[in-house]
Amino acid sequence: MREVIPLSIPVISGNEWAYVKECLDSGWVSFGSYVDRFEDDFKKYVGSKYAVALVNGTSALHLSLITLGAEPEDEVLVPSLTFIATVNVVRYCSASPVFIDCDSDTLCINPKRVEEFLEKETELKSDGYSYNKKTGKRIKVLIVVHMYGHPADMDSLVRISKKYNISLVEDATESLGSEYRGKKTGCFGDVACFSFNANKIITTGGGGMLVTDNEAIAKRVKYLSQQAKSDSIEYTHDDIGYNYRLTNIQSAIGVAQLEKIEEFVSIKRKNFEAYKELLDDLPNVKLLSEMEWAKSNYWLYTLKVSAEKREPLMAYLNSSGIQVRPVWKPIHTHQMYQGFQKGPLKNSMNAYETGINIPCSTNLKGDEVKAVAGKIREFLKK
Ligand SMILES: Cc1ncc(COP(=O)(O)O)c(C=O)c1O
Repeated sequence: MREVIPLSIPVISGNEWAYVKECLDSGWVSFGSYVDRFEDDFKKYVGSKYAVALVNGTSALHLSLITLGAEPEDEVLVPSLTFIATVNVVRYCSASPVFIDCDSDTLCINPKRVEEFLEKETELKSDGYSYNKKTGKRIKVLIVVHMYGHPADMDSLVRISKKYNISLVEDATESLGSEYRGKKTGCFGDVACFSFNANKIITTGGGGMLVTDNEAIAKRVKYLSQQAKSDSIEYTHDDIGYNYRLTNIQSAIGVAQLEKIEEFVSIKRKNFEAYKELLDDLPNVKLLSEMEWAKSNYWLYTLKVSAEKREPLMAYLNSSGIQVRPVWKPIHTHQMYQGFQKGPLKNSMNAYETGINIPCSTNLKGDEVKAVAGKIREFLKK
């Protein structure tokens, strides 16, 4: 058993070395065929028509908003309970976020709260868009995060986005391999974004993927990610582009990692069941589990305890060599986001005040799961 049980670390145990060696031996380190192969394998796995490999999940979210036409006078509906990148990209476009609460079971954006905001706070104008009655701004995009791997309620969210003519982005950075009613996350929005940061279920060191069924969006994302260069020889650029493309070396790692995704999902799910069995009988502790319509990749396992126990339990576990972390701090509480409009955010605050994420790496061993559960029990019995 490890001295420190990490929260979430990568497992590099397949063809990564062989594929990277090929890149290094051939000199194809930046551009190369692994980029195409990663994109092809990825779109087949997720079930989308197009995939564009990008430098990280944040750049994928940024290019989503640009290609969907989020402009400075627009508003974007976002969950407050998410990682900060989901919301920062809204500000990269000089648009404004509107913060919506989450569902207390899934921690994903609550469709009822989204619809409530649109019904009460907006009015439909003759251009076919809904405008915020208070700010006069157009509601252009809804970003949905599949929180910690658990899919959001996509039937409701797709229906609402259609009804109000709002583009839908899935922030699927945490949910590769998860399914909503038998279909992979990433197949529901106008676009979806994935992350291959080192703590994610598969990694390329750093990396991202944008998937879509819309050919024009895919082409534009590819073009913008390569400095918007419009001639293969001449340095002619028709737009302000970005250097957001993923390298061949990183894509080679991605191809090898993706070969293992089903194994990784199955390990995550097995370890979740083991935690559940060991913790289920504890009063005042809730391990968040999937809804009957969902298959979660269980990227992170979230435990809810009472607000008074959350800090001391985290301190106890961290000092016992068990790396745990709090649930994301709701974005509306950060100083740069306090001035933006928000609905009631009770569930988001409660998740933050009571939630702890516990070790979940795909190389977590049975005795380590027992040790983590044992320490949690030990603390809560005191
Ligand atoms: C919900 C969410 N959105 C966006 C990101 C950003 O992805 P990246 O770190 O690859 O830029 C992450 C993860 O880091 C995330 O968890």
